[in-house]
Amino acid sequence: MNQLKTFLLLLAVLTSTKTRVVKALRDPLDRPNFVLFFVDDLGYGDLGFTGHPTTSTPNIDKLAWNGKTLTTWYSGCSVCSCSRAALMTGRQYPRTGIREVLGVVDTLGLPLEEVTIAEQLKKVNYTTGIVGKWHLGQRLAYLPSNQGFDYYLGIPYSDDMGNGKETSCSGDRKSEDPQTEEQDKMKGKPRPPRDNDYAAWYLPLVYQEHNRTRIVEQPLDLTKLAQKYNHFATKFIEDNKDDPFFLYFPFSHVHTTSGNNNKWNSMPNKQYASCSFQNRTKRGAFGDALAEVDWMIGNVYETLQCLGLEENTIILFTSDNGPWTPQHYDGGSYGIFSGEYAGYPWTGKASTWEGGIRMPAFAHWKGQIEPFSRTSQTISSMDVFPTFSHLAGVPLPDGIVLDGRDMADILLQENGQSKHDFLFFYGFCNGYWPRTGVAAVRHGPYKAHFCTSPGLGAYERTPTKYDKYPLLFNVEEDPSETFPICDGNTLPENDPDARAAIERILRAYAMEKATFEYGKIPPLPPGPGEGKGHYGVCCNRSTNCSCESLWDDNFQSRLFNVGSAEHHARYHEHLGEENHMKDTV
Ligand SMILES: *[C@@H]1O[C@H](CO)[C@@H](O)[C@H](O)[C@H]1NC(C)=O
Ligand SMILES: *[C@@H]1O[C@H](CO)[C@@H](O)[C@H](O)[C@H]1NC(C)=O
Ligand SMILES: *[C@@H]1O[C@H](CO)[C@@H](O)[C@H](O)[C@H]1NC(C)=O
Ligand SMILES: *[C@@H]1O[C@H](CO)[C@@H](O)[C@H](O)[C@H]1NC(C)=O
Ligand SMILES: *[C@@H]1O[C@H](CO)[C@@H](O)[C@H](O)[C@H]1NC(C)=O
Repeated sequence: MNQLKTFLLLLAVLTSTKTRVVKALRDPLDRPNFVLFFVDDLGYGDLGFTGHPTTSTPNIDKLAWNGKTLTTWYSGCSVCSCSRAALMTGRQYPRTGIREVLGVVDTLGLPLEEVTIAEQLKKVNYTTGIVGKWHLGQRLAYLPSNQGFDYYLGIPYSDDMGNGKETSCSGDRKSEDPQTEEQDKMKGKPRPPRDNDYAAWYLPLVYQEHNRTRIVEQPLDLTKLAQKYNHFATKFIEDNKDDPFFLYFPFSHVHTTSGNNNKWNSMPNKQYASCSFQNRTKRGAFGDALAEVDWMIGNVYETLQCLGLEENTIILFTSDNGPWTPQHYDGGSYGIFSGEYAGYPWTGKASTWEGGIRMPAFAHWKGQIEPFSRTSQTISSMDVFPTFSHLAGVPLPDGIVLDGRDMADILLQENGQSKHDFLFFYGFCNGYWPRTGVAAVRHGPYKAHFCTSPGLGAYERTPTKYDKYPLLFNVEEDPSETFPICDGNTLPENDPDARAAIERILRAYAMEKATFEYGKIPPLPPGPGEGKGHYGVCCNRSTNCSCESLWDDNFQSRLFNVGSAEHHARYHEHLGEENHMKDTV
């Protein structure tokens, strides 16, 4: 090395943060950091890199292009909770007992016996954080800190499951101007308390640090939610830069704030964004909300870059399920996966048409994943568990059926092959709820439907069963599922490959049905203060679960110096109490 180089290196070390040293100390392949972005209700066609013409996602697009685009990524379920159960455990969701969308006052949650990715990574000393929507049980026992996560900030369920506050962007919020105050409005679906539980009225923002839990806002402020998520995520990375970490970022966006209602058009303005993102994109409110997601992702990446962690960090991006198409402009776009055979609006979220389960996705890992690369190998959200386990060097848990397969070869090698010969999609075949039957399967280029059902909110249609032969498409040649090779009644005469495939599919289907073991959620006894009408997340029952926010202008430094000893001291000093969730425990 010549003198100039030595000098420049020294200069770089001296002028940059300590992180250059960190980078030198950690081999990129030794327990890499994982950042998993999981957007809510985002469709395949919603992003710049997947072809949406007016969406604004420059940070996401740049990451996708500088990594590997994964064009055949299937979610573990076509709706929220079961999709997350499959993601967290690497298992088909009916095995976990989470068969549907959990409500706000549900007694159920992801069974504690299930091994989550976070628990898996903790075995090799990862620090684990989650920011955003959990939706695997809102009771204290089921919240992330009992499922392997060290830190959590977020709404425990969907943002349409209660009301949030929207702060006006027109006034100076610091003044105590009552007129400005009046412009704050509640957003979401007005609903009567369910099971007499007022917790169902107001969206809570929950913070957890190890086993300490606090509701920091109720109702939370949707206009300021992204700032808080953003700060939590970037701070989490900064605080844990020296050791392996797992940051799971399941965004509350771009789910609508009101939902399960047949009068879609009568409830406009179902998206939200910070003041600096409102009315910013050509795509309207959905585009603004998505631009805000893009901003958060950009900040996370910038943090990784500044800390010199790019080569130590694998980033995965995907969505939980397809777009909620009956929500019109406020729902997303499934892009090319339109399911023409059934047509709008039947083929989005909650259906097992490609539009309901085929997700936008990419993987990024500087130095390990080839930039500007792309693969159409079949991947499932369930693969994240075994893949992270492999990359972190944690043996898979014993005695557990995993349906996910290690996708590291697909990510890291030019011609890595999918290990899914048959990938089954559970769905609506047993009637509307719960979603426990095999609805479809992907095998090679083929997608076979045993049952098709309409997406969420498209109630007018009943499911169609294909009892004799499956409804078959070649989704490599026909991704829009427009031209069936077999309509379910007769075998394709002139297509021996398809005939043979159908035979293989029917055998695999019979085997799957004969051997599949459905899980049950073991009943968890009510904790202190729980019981019927008291399972909701509630800051204070004597105020109908509405509480002053703990946030103020200094919230960041006070509450979010996550992980440091100083933080622990300040956090608890601020709360002035042992901070268990006050009235819910
Ligand atoms: C994890 O931490 C424990 C306790 O400090 C230590 O004994 C163990 O070797 C660590 N494991 C790894 C993989 O670093
Ligand atoms: C919380 O964790 C601390 C430290 O790990 C432990 O001492 C304490 O008993 C735990 N409290 C509860 C309620 O689990
Ligand atoms: C965005 O437009 C809406 C509707 O015109 C308006 O109510 C809102 O104040 C605007 N927000 C900002 C930040 O300009
Ligand atoms: C709950 O709200 C009531 C009424 O405002 C108040 O008196 C009480 O102190 C609150 N309880 C807690 C634990 O904050
Ligand atoms: C709680 O809600 C009930 C029903 O709407 C109402 O009668 C009661 O006054 C409310 N209590 C408070 C403290 O707001």
